Formats: sequence, structure tokens, C-alpha cells
Amino acid sequence: MYADLHCHILPGIDDGAKDLPQSLAMARLAVKDGIKTTVVTPHHLNGVYVNRAADILSALASLRESLIAEGIPLKLLPGCELHLVPELPDQIASGEAMTLGNLDKAVLVELPVHTVPMGAEHILEQIQCQGLTPIIAHPERNSQLRQTPEMLAEWIAMGCLGQVTAQSCTGQFGPQVQASARDMVSRGLIQIIASDAHRDRRRIPEISQGEAQVARWTNERTAELLARTFPLALANGQEPDLDLLGDTLPRQRRSWWRRLVG
Ligand SMILES: [Fe+2]
Repeated sequence: MYADLHCHILPGIDDGAKDLPQSLAMARLAVKDGIKTTVVTPHHLNGVYVNRAADILSALASLRESLIAEGIPLKLLPGCELHLVPELPDQIASGEAMTLGNLDKAVLVELPVHTVPMGAEHILEQIQCQGLTPIIAHPERNSQLRQTPEMLAEWIAMGCLGQVTAQSCTGQFGPQVQASARDMVSRGLIQIIASDAHRDRRRIPEISQGEAQVARWTNERTAELLARTFPLALANGQEPDLDLLGDTLPRQRRSWWRRLVG
């Protein structure tokens, strides 16, 4: 059983599912892959899309009704993929920016494709001061973090979490992104595997293949924690018990992780 913490399944409000039939097709694929819970995460504040918490809740209610009518056993939770912009902490405080599951414990944040904006770390710290854990969406797809994963390592040491996209692990975004995904997973900088699905073809809601690849890079226990245990905890509003990773990563990688956090 999986909980998918990153999925653009709400119809017609961002670059994800274009209409209800596509949302339903995505939901069927998710169930087929063993996904039990999907957090809906439309873009917000990325310069193109604005999806306020209230709008997400009403779109979510509508899709939930359709899933019930169609007999698709997928639980949907509210969420959002929040662009890391200076006004984000204020938007979180005012309730305009949706937190993961609307639980006020964690937020999924995304960076631009190529750069890490000036002041990114400060915004992350502000979010933490609000009592929320920032989850960094697909750092392996950001050019600057690929070149300097040490920057990501600092954020993880601060208490942020890293989310790798399943299809990055399996090579759908090319060899550079795949190599970076492997590097970040192996260094202990990733705690969550999610689909970041946008469609019912190509960018589909599937986690199992990513889990299998991470198992080949590390071991089955690590892959299970990243694909199942930690996302399920977060979907339930619980802090993932990262100590469970303790002995699962290879020795040299674990000692690197200890140096980092120590
Ligand atoms: Fe996304």
C-alpha cells in the first residue's frame, strides 16, 4: 500500500489532468499500482497557476464524489505544490496556501527548474518557525541542486525532507536526473518517493517501479521506508520516524549521513 504525496490529479486547474475523465483514468491507474491514498497537489504561485486552499477543497470534494460514483477505491487528501516564493510564509499563515492533508504539519514546496532562488533557505526557515516541515519536491530535477547536492544536504540537516519522483529513478527524465536521484537517495537526502503524476499516459501515478529501482540502489528495507512507511505517516499527520533508516543504508553512506547531521 502506498500513499502518494504528490499528484496533479485535480482536473483542469493546472498542467495536470485536463478533465474529469483523465482524473478518473489516473485514479484507476493509481489503485492498480497499490496506491491507497493520493494527496492532490496542484501548483500554486509558480508564476502560472494560483490555487488557493478554498478552491482546492471544493475541487477535491467534487472529484471525491466522482470517485465514489465510479466505485474507484482511492482516498483523496487535500494538498498543494507550493512554489518557494517570499510571500509563501504569509500565505501559509493566512490559510491561503494549503498544507499537506490540510493538517498543518508539512508543506510540499517546489523550486524553479534550473535555479535555487536567493533567500530560499531563509524562506524554509520561516516555514519551520511556523511549525511546519518543508518537503522539497523532486530536488533531482533542479539543475543547481544536481550540481551542488550539498545545498540540499544542509536543508535536510535543518529538518526538511526530500521527495524524489518515481520516474526520475526509473530514467524517464533522462540519465542526468536519474544519476542525481541515485546520488541523493544513496546519500540519505531523500525520505519520500512520490509519483508527481500529471496524466494517464507517460507521467502516470505509479510508485512501484521507483520503489523497485531504489531497492536496487540501496536495499528493500530502505525502499519500503521511502515509498510506503514515511509517506503513509505524513499522510496521517505523523512525523516519519527517520531513525528507522538507521541501519538500512550501506556503511559509508550512513557515516556520511551521521557526519552531516552530527
Ligand atoms: Fe508536481
